[in-house]
Amino acid sequence: MGELPPFQRVDKAQLARRFGAAARRYDAHAAFQREVGQALLGWLPAHSDHLLDLGCGTGHFLPMLAARSHRLTALDLSPGMLDEARRRGSGASLLCGDAEALPLPGGQFDTLFSSLALQWCERPERAFTEAGRVLKPGGRLFFSTLLAGSLHELRAAWQAVDGAAHVNRFLERAALERALLAGGLVIERLEVHPWQLRYGAVEGLLRDLKGIGASQVNEAPRGGLGGRARLAALADAYEQNRVDGTLPATYQVCLAVVRRP
Ligand SMILES: C[S@@+](CC[C@H](N)C(=O)[O-])C[C@H]1O[C@@H](n2cnc3c(N)ncnc32)[C@H](O)[C@@H]1O
Repeated sequence: MGELPPFQRVDKAQLARRFGAAARRYDAHAAFQREVGQALLGWLPAHSDHLLDLGCGTGHFLPMLAARSHRLTALDLSPGMLDEARRRGSGASLLCGDAEALPLPGGQFDTLFSSLALQWCERPERAFTEAGRVLKPGGRLFFSTLLAGSLHELRAAWQAVDGAAHVNRFLERAALERALLAGGLVIERLEVHPWQLRYGAVEGLLRDLKGIGASQVNEAPRGGLGGRARLAALADAYEQNRVDGTLPATYQVCLAVVRRP
């Protein structure tokens, strides 16, 4: 059976370094990530035997996951993020690894939790295949991810400045569903919610994106206007979105529960 082409090319070492460099200041810029993870937590069963946090970042959710599980393992691609999670001391076993090639034996978890990490995968169906492999039969993956249309205001504003995308691509819902199917997982519940953040100025949004280490995977071409002029042109282009004195930044957030049959 032919493999699907990669959704995007990701330099994993570079991604891990960028997230690692942001680890210390991540939480100050991660109000959106906390909100989404909190919503996903609300979907989780009250108790799991062995739970894995896939893409745990700074470990913000680990104490809450520990309260819902007998045993907790947390994995992230970025050693810098794991250092931060370790510094906070969550009681979880921490592991460095890639969601697309999990360094874990199969069939050991009854629950996987993954909030806003899977959108960084090169081949989402590989991550879902891996999730299915490490789950026990009947075990479930609870995840949140971003879908196409996320940050459309920023994408359009950059487009107006230099014709380049600058914003990462995100899967369409149908492609996500195909990837889940290819990974052998059964969808129990899948919802997409537009999630609107409000900023006084576009710089606030850029600061948050940089602050959490979410720099671009699909690198934009350089050139044209220099730093300050580019930013001014971007601010100008973004301005047309202003409503009631603030600038919206919209994410299409997918929350889902999928099961290994
Ligand atoms: C936006 S942060 C979210 C962290 C945390 N789940 C939260 O909600 O605060 C994304 C995290 O996913 C991790 N990540 C990205 N690609 C990954 C991969 N292929 N495997 C494991 N972790 C990955 C990054 O290192 C980063 O810590």
